[in-house]
Amino acid sequence: MSPAHGFRGRSVVSADDFSKEDLVGLLDASPFFEGDVGPRLRGKVLGTLFFEPSTRTRLSFESAMHRLGGAVVGFADAKMSSHAKGESLADTIRVVESYCDAIVLRHPMEGAARLAAETAHVPVINGGDGSNQHPTQTFLDLYTIRKSTRRLDGLHVGFFGDLRYSRTVHSLAKALLHFDVKMTFVGPPMLRLPEELRATLAEHGRIGVEAESLEAAGDLDVLYVTRIQKERFPDPADYEKVKHGYRLDRATAERFGPDLKILHPLPRVTEVDPDVDALPGALYFEQAKNGVTVRKALLSMILTGDGPEGWHG
Ligand code: NCD
Repeated sequence: MSPAHGFRGRSVVSADDFSKEDLVGLLDASPFFEGDVGPRLRGKVLGTLFFEPSTRTRLSFESAMHRLGGAVVGFADAKMSSHAKGESLADTIRVVESYCDAIVLRHPMEGAARLAAETAHVPVINGGDGSNQHPTQTFLDLYTIRKSTRRLDGLHVGFFGDLRYSRTVHSLAKALLHFDVKMTFVGPPMLRLPEELRATLAEHGRIGVEAESLEAAGDLDVLYVTRIQKERFPDPADYEKVKHGYRLDRATAERFGPDLKILHPLPRVTEVDPDVDALPGALYFEQAKNGVTVRKALLSMILTGDGPEGWHG
């Protein structure tokens, strides 16, 4: 089986469930999906179950499915589903799986996607489970980094912001363990990396600097900024203490030189000054656009298993 077939029929729960070959296979396949590739998912149905707010993840999955000729059923607001009547996640999954060929699930509970994948007989794609994982965001982040820097090995990636609760940081950092990447972490002390993840990265000797200020970050190739995950704070008073804790302005971004690539999963609130948007390395809107491309590739690989030879054949 070629590496590009590593996704066929598989659930996508955590970025670290996938081998380097799987990830590279997806990244290599994705450029093919940048344009119109025809209705290769005609007759397939994707279920989108979003128990938390979403703009990019849900709409890019739906757009990807429509562009591939498939259909979508689902809800964007759990209050409009039987969840509001007290139905368990496992029961919802058991029912919805009979309506579709794959399910994208976003849920506030860590481990929800794993539980759903264990229950379902169709692939479950994790669209974010609490502050744990967001693997498909990681796939498009890797795609954006590799497309803009033309490599993954040998990079120095800085993470800036809420390192504690950002599932996009946790997912990407784990996936980057497959590559020769140094990772530096900058943010308020209260929002440091979870200890378990920190220990894993340290064990692999991947942590560059851990600091409160970007001045200590050194030479970065990529700066990955995240929003404070306000909704994850157990105590709202703690959020109040850090809500203005960091911000990337244009002068700071320019100090890293013209080659710095700035990524952000979005939504942005106040942590990236709008002046930064004009820098050539500010890639976050392009990154969001890449979400459709990479999700088209992912859905095709999961639902048909076709490699490039199948797509052309
Ligand atoms: C992220 C998420 O939901 O984790 N958004 C996204 O999917 N692009 C980041 C965030 O909400 O801050």
